[in-house]
Amino acid sequence: MSLAVAAKTDASTAPAILAATGLSARYGHIHALHGVDLQIGEGELVAVLGPNGAGKSTLLRAIMGLSANDGEVRFRGEALPRRDPVAVASRGIVLVPEGRGLFSPMSVSDNLELGAYRLGDKAEFKRRRERVLALFPRLKERLGQVAGSMSGGEQQMLAIGRALMAGPKLLLLDEPSLGLAPRVTEEILETLGLLNREGLAIVLVEQKAPLALELANRVYLLSLGRIVAELDPRDITSHDDLARHYFA
Ligand SMILES: Nc1ncnc2c1ncn2[C@@H]1O[C@H](COP(=O)(O)OP(=O)(O)O)[C@@H](O)[C@H]1O
Ligand SMILES: [Mg+2]
Repeated sequence: MSLAVAAKTDASTAPAILAATGLSARYGHIHALHGVDLQIGEGELVAVLGPNGAGKSTLLRAIMGLSANDGEVRFRGEALPRRDPVAVASRGIVLVPEGRGLFSPMSVSDNLELGAYRLGDKAEFKRRRERVLALFPRLKERLGQVAGSMSGGEQQMLAIGRALMAGPKLLLLDEPSLGLAPRVTEEILETLGLLNREGLAIVLVEQKAPLALELANRVYLLSLGRIVAELDPRDITSHDDLARHYFA
C-alpha cells in the first residue's frame, strides 16, 4: 500500500485550531525554544521536522503546558492556560509522548481505559474503544496482554489508541516512528492519515522525513529551537532539498 494515496487537501487557509505565538522554553540555562510562531488549521496534518535536539519534543511539551515556557497558545481562539496540562488536555489536545508513556505492567485493555478516565459516558466509552480496536486490530488480539511485553510497533499503536480514547480534537505525536521497522511505521502513519482525512487535526513530529512528507499538508522545519522554514511538502523534491533548508 502506498501512502501517496493520501489526499492532500489544501487546509493551509483553514481557520486555526491552534495558534502559538512567541513560544519560548528553557531548561535551567538551556534555551530550547526561541519565540516559535506556529499555526495549525482545522483538519490539517502538519509535520514538524528537525534533527535530534532541535526542540521538537520541547515544542509539543510547551503546547501542553508541560514545560516552563513563555508565549501564548490559543486553541480555537481561546488562550490556553500555561503550566496546567490537565486543563489543556481537557480542551481536547492530546499528546502521544516520545517513548509512548504507557503503563507497561498493565494490560492493553487497562491502558485504553485510562485514556478515557475522564469520560463518564459508558456508551461513548464503548464506541471509542470499538473504534480504536477497529483501527488497530492487533490490539484487539492482545487486550489481556501486558503492554510492556508487546513489540515496539504494537506499543506505539496502543499509545495512539489510548490517546484516541480521550476523544482528541488535536492530536500531537512525538516521533511515533522512533525505533520501528519501516513496514510498521507505514501502517501506523497510514492510520494517522485516515484519522486526518476524517477531520482530526494532527501535529506529527519526526526526524525521519519521507513518510511524514507524504501525509502532511504543511511542514515546519525546526532547528536549534527556531522555525527556519515553513514549506509545502509538494515543493520538497528530495532529501538534499530538505537538508538545504535545515542548514540554510
Ligand atoms: N530535561 C532537560 N533538561 C535539560 N535540557 C534538556 C532537557 N530536555 C531537552 N533538553 C535540551 O533542549 C534541547 C531540545 O531538546 P528536545 O526538545 O528534546 O529536542 P528534539 O525533541 O528535537 O530532539 C536540546 O538541546 C536538549 O539537550
Ligand atoms: Mg524529541
